[in-house]
Amino acid sequence: YPSVRQMEESSVLRRANCRAKGGAPGFKVAILGAAGGIGQPLAMLMKMNPLVSVLHLYDVVNAPGVTADISHMDTGAVVRGFLGQPQLESALTGMDLVIIPAGVPRKPGMTRDDLFNINAGIVRTLCEGIAKCCPNAIVNLISNPVNSTVPIAAEVFKKAGTYDPKRLLGVTMLDVVRANTFVAEVLGLDPREVDVPVVGGHSGVTILPLLSQVKPPCSFTPEETQYLTNRIQNGGTEVVEAKAGAGSATLSMAYAAVKFADACLRGLRGDAGVVECTFVASQVTELPFFATKVRLGRSGAEEIYQLGPLNEYERVGLEKAKKELAGSIAKGISFIRK
Ligand code: NAD
Ligand code: LMR
Repeated sequence: YPSVRQMEESSVLRRANCRAKGGAPGFKVAILGAAGGIGQPLAMLMKMNPLVSVLHLYDVVNAPGVTADISHMDTGAVVRGFLGQPQLESALTGMDLVIIPAGVPRKPGMTRDDLFNINAGIVRTLCEGIAKCCPNAIVNLISNPVNSTVPIAAEVFKKAGTYDPKRLLGVTMLDVVRANTFVAEVLGLDPREVDVPVVGGHSGVTILPLLSQVKPPCSFTPEETQYLTNRIQNGGTEVVEAKAGAGSATLSMAYAAVKFADACLRGLRGDAGVVECTFVASQVTELPFFATKVRLGRSGAEEIYQLGPLNEYERVGLEKAKKELAGSIAKGISFIRK
């Protein structure tokens, strides 16, 4: 019998030949934190994505088990597992897209910022690996607090001389997914027909849904606006409390992460008109990072859209969001510079 490694390599070769003959493109994707609550369903969903040819699953625990399990799915992507720091470089070498859900989640009563002390160091180490082994990869950063971990990653990449702001994307897609769901409930629509831009950041008041820009065009009463804004801003806490100590959102997050990763891969493939919200380096406000709609292309976030017209409620929300975001961004930057 051929060895597992031989089978993997011949499968990769077959796919490469298929691409050379004009077949579907395949991208190499790594998930860091792949054995976790988000990592496992995310790995399963990425294995089902036809744009993925190679899937690397890295974690400091349980990566071999998750890899063996997922590798039996009869979909195209070749799956390889990597366990612990000594295997980080092999996990990252040659990757087109790196998705990072590594780190600790919240328990009831905690803020996302309470995770900073542990997750900041984890993100720093993983980003040092990316700078060394796949400096041109698109990075989708999920680990909280996103408002600080994205600035941390940017500083690590700057230090290494590999920083490309277009390729570093904080994942705020779950806020959009929640906003679409809750708005659809109020409007009595199918959530798949609803598009709510959510801007700012990914924590409390920094999560700013622009309900005046919902598609299809609609209007809300002041009570509906208040209810929807609160529910979207506190969606994460709603799940943390319901899980009662067993962690935070994992399944809806894996769904949202795959929706965003798929958009990144379609952008990399050269598809036109791929637009999603993400937390990126930005000049839309005076802050160095801000989440808005961006157009995703071959080099990442190729165009960053302005906020568009805001109503009075949203203008007040924007000021509150910027105030909190400024502190979180500064905290992330000084973690690396200090
Ligand atoms: P989890 O504890 O279930 O899984 C985290 C995984 O990370 C574990 O398997 C752990 O072994 C791994 N890990 C820890 N240190 C590591 C390291 N140095 N290298 C690689 N892997 C490492 O947690 P979870 O529920 O999957 O959540 C993960 C993170 O995602 C948390 O910080 C959480 O707050 C965040 N999150 C973000 C969003 C968002 O919208 N951006 C949504 C949900 C959760
Ligand atoms: C979420 O929005 O679900 C995540 O940021 C996890 C959390 O801690 O709320």
